[in-house]
Parts: sequence; C-alpha cells; structure tokens
Amino acid sequence: MAKEKTLFVCSECGGTSPKWLGKCPSCGAWNTLIEQVAGGSGPANNRFGTQYAALAGVSELATLSEIEATDVARTPTGLDELDRVLGGGIVSGGVTLIGGDPGIGKSTLLLQAVDALQRAGQNALYVTGEESGAQVALRSRRLGLDHSQVQVLAEIQLEKIIATLDATRPAIAVIDSIQTVYSDQLTSAPGSVAQVRECAAHLTRFAKTSGTAVVLVGHVTKEGALAGPRVLEHMVDTVLYFEGDTHSSFRLVRAIKNRFGAVNEIGVFAMTERGLKGVANPSAIFLSQHAEPVPGSVVLVTLEGTRPMLVEIQALVDNGGPSPRRLSVGLDRDRLAMLLAVLHRHAGVACMDQDVFVNAVGGVRISEPAADLAVMLAITSSLRGKPLPRGFIAFGEVGLAGEVRPAPRGQERLREAAKLGFSVAVVPKANAPRKGTKEIEGLTIHAVERIEEAMDVVRRLD
Ligand SMILES: Nc1ncnc2c1ncn2[C@@H]1O[C@H](COP(=O)(O)OP(=O)(O)O)[C@@H](O)[C@H]1O
Ligand SMILES: [Mg+2]
Repeated sequence: MAKEKTLFVCSECGGTSPKWLGKCPSCGAWNTLIEQVAGGSGPANNRFGTQYAALAGVSELATLSEIEATDVARTPTGLDELDRVLGGGIVSGGVTLIGGDPGIGKSTLLLQAVDALQRAGQNALYVTGEESGAQVALRSRRLGLDHSQVQVLAEIQLEKIIATLDATRPAIAVIDSIQTVYSDQLTSAPGSVAQVRECAAHLTRFAKTSGTAVVLVGHVTKEGALAGPRVLEHMVDTVLYFEGDTHSSFRLVRAIKNRFGAVNEIGVFAMTERGLKGVANPSAIFLSQHAEPVPGSVVLVTLEGTRPMLVEIQALVDNGGPSPRRLSVGLDRDRLAMLLAVLHRHAGVACMDQDVFVNAVGGVRISEPAADLAVMLAITSSLRGKPLPRGFIAFGEVGLAGEVRPAPRGQERLREAAKLGFSVAVVPKANAPRKGTKEIEGLTIHAVERIEEAMDVVRRLD
C-alpha cells in the first residue's frame, strides 16, 4: 500500500519517477532522485501541479505598510549562554536544529533547557528516540533536576509523535534525534535523507500551525556536516552547532543560521558532573598555559559574535617528504595554503619542502580572516624555532598582495587583550589607536600595513 503513495522526485530538475532510478529520466543527473510522499511537501506538488488558480484560488495581498510589524515574542530558557545564541530565547512556532558530534552534550543541554522552561511555567515535551525514558530519567537525576515535570515520550514514529504533540500542545518540544524518527508513509529506511526531510517537514508544519517551538537534534558526521539534516538547514529557522573538543570540558554552541537573531553568536559552556554550565567570561579559556614562551605559538584575539576571545594558534613546521602535508584543525585548509603562498612571495618565507600543521587550541573553529596574521606569525616562529615574546598577541587579515587589512572592532580586541595582561601587539595599522588618541594602557602596539613589516617587527622583538 505504502509503495503506491510514494514518488521519486529529482532534486535538480523536479522530474518524477514512480520507482527509484540511479539516473533522473528527465534531466539525466545521477543520484538525485529522492523519495517523496504524494500529498507531502516538496517539488512534486509545488512545481508540477498546474492550474493553481483554478484549484486553489488567488490569495489576497497586502502592502508592507499595511502589515503590522510585530517583533517575535521570545521566552528565555533561563540558560543565559543558550539564550544568547538563540537571540534572546525560544520563539513560539520557531524550529531550531541543533547539531553536534555524539557525546558533546546535545541531550544534556536540551534537557536542562526544557526543565528550566517547565519550571518557568511552560509546558515542555521531550521526545526521545535514542534513549529509553529510563535513561533520560537517569540523566535528569544526575543533572540534579529533581521533581522535573517535563513530559517524556519514548517514540520514533512520526505519526504518533505528531498526534501526541497535537493532543498536548506543549510550548516547546524537543525531538532527540530527528534521525531516529521515521514515517510509515515512506519506504526508505529510518535515518535516510528522504525520511529525515519528510519528518522534519511535518514537524515544521506542526510548529508553524500550533505555535509549539520545536527543537530537532541532529547528528553530525565525521566530516563535520549534519548527516542528512544538512538538507534541513533551509527548512528550519535556526541552526545551532556544538563545537569543541570532547576531551576538554569547554563546549561552544554557535548559531550558523538564525531568522530571529544574529548569526555567529556563540554560547560557551563548561561540561561538569551536573551538566553544562554557562561561562560568562570566556575570553581566556582557549589559551594553553606555557611556563615559558614556545616556538610556533601565537595568541590571536578573535571576535566571536559580540565577545572578543583569545585563542592560541599553534603551528608546527617540520621537514616533509616529497609531497609535504598541510593540515589544519579549527582553521580553513585552503586559507592555510593561500597564506603559505603569500608568506613565500611577499615575506620570503619558504615552506615548500616542509610539513605544516596548524591548530586552534581547545577545539574552537575559527572562520574569520582576521586570524591570518597570527597563523603566519606562528608558522614563521615554528620554522625559525624562535618563540614570540611573552604577552604577545596578533590579529589582522592578510591579502594576496601581502597587505594587512583591518579586522572589525579592533579597539575592543586590543582592550580585551590588555585586560588579560597581554603587553605586545602586532595589528593592522587601521586598528591601532590613532596618534593623539588615548592609548591602551599596558599594551605596546606595533601597527603594520604589510606582511613584510610584521615580520620585521617580530625579528626586532627577538
Ligand atoms: N554518568 C555520567 N557521568 C558523568 N558524565 C556523563 C555521564 N553520562 C554522560 N556524561 C557526559 O555527558 C556528555 C554529553 O552527553 P549527551 O548529552 O548524551 O551528548 P549527546 O546528546 O550530544 O550525544 C558525555 O560526553 C559525558 O561527558
Ligand atoms: Mg543524545
């Protein structure tokens, strides 16, 4: 029966086929056919239904000025760092996808959040597909969430989940995880792209019509992509990502998409025996403690969301074989290759026959180009075997022509570094305090316009 209701739709051209084929019969693209329920969401009904007007009638229009501009109402979860990434709290009818490696703390954080919301008088439902109710209860006891009134549903069938949601209409519902949920309407295996997408679409529609805030938990593959849920990113309102090294106690939650707030805002947590605790002043947590300065280590002042943070960048340059390796952890590898070329061309630092490894300490992921200068100085320091002086920081973007470009909100970065006791800075000229303006106490600032200049400054500091 179920088979007759399904259709395979090409994600490229929208062409359809009654059965799965490796090649789309319409456009010839490979591996693009995705199963869809007839009557469900997706291109099958959107693109190929004809005579829309005859079938549905024309909707009424309103001009922008006629529409009342109301801001969305947010309910704070009570976990400050989570509220910060969400843009103030959960939004009624909003759908949030939260991704991260297994064991990083997704279930822990969400259980803490729904419990806090429940205590604040919001009805919360926690749907668990990965663990039994008993396991969730065990976790809640460990987290010290005694007498929790959060409702728990151990269920993986979409239709039953939605029926329960519809009957109870909670203010917030967590689906842990979306990959375990499956619909009877599809023949694809649970966890497949078709299942994950269809289930998420139904849950999203439920959120929008009922006003329940829905949080979908999604697993991430080794490569760092949300498995399957990648296709969900455009469907949901907010995408949060857990970052951090599971071996360290710090966890970062980053908003990579947010229809209700700023993106790239991050929340910082520490994993403790009693769950995740917010870290209100995270600026110094990504520094390793060296007794003496070591070669290849430079402290970068990065700006994550609204807060400056100091992150140690480490580089190791070592004799490589015939095809030397370039490896980066927490930094973009293509960018590393580019910076090595700039170093060679404009500063005469050659690493052609060397293995180059760079790492951002603490499992933090740095995407801003303002890390360039610190990365290049760390590489040079490792190559020369000379440490940078104690209390040294750097930031600034480096262009292909060797120019050092300013980073956003440089003064804030410098002040944060000075506050934490750093004393020497190499920064883009436009970020240094102008002559005659107030200096930053305790910080000697070397303003540079080109990468060669930065190298000269550092050599003079030896
Ligand atoms: N019994 C326990 N005692 C202490 N810490 C635990 C216990 N069980 C789990 N944890 C910690 O909680 C972390 C997060 O677990 P969890 O929230 O289930 O992650 P996720 O849902 O992202 O897979 C685990 O990596 C572990 O460090
Ligand atoms: Mg979990």
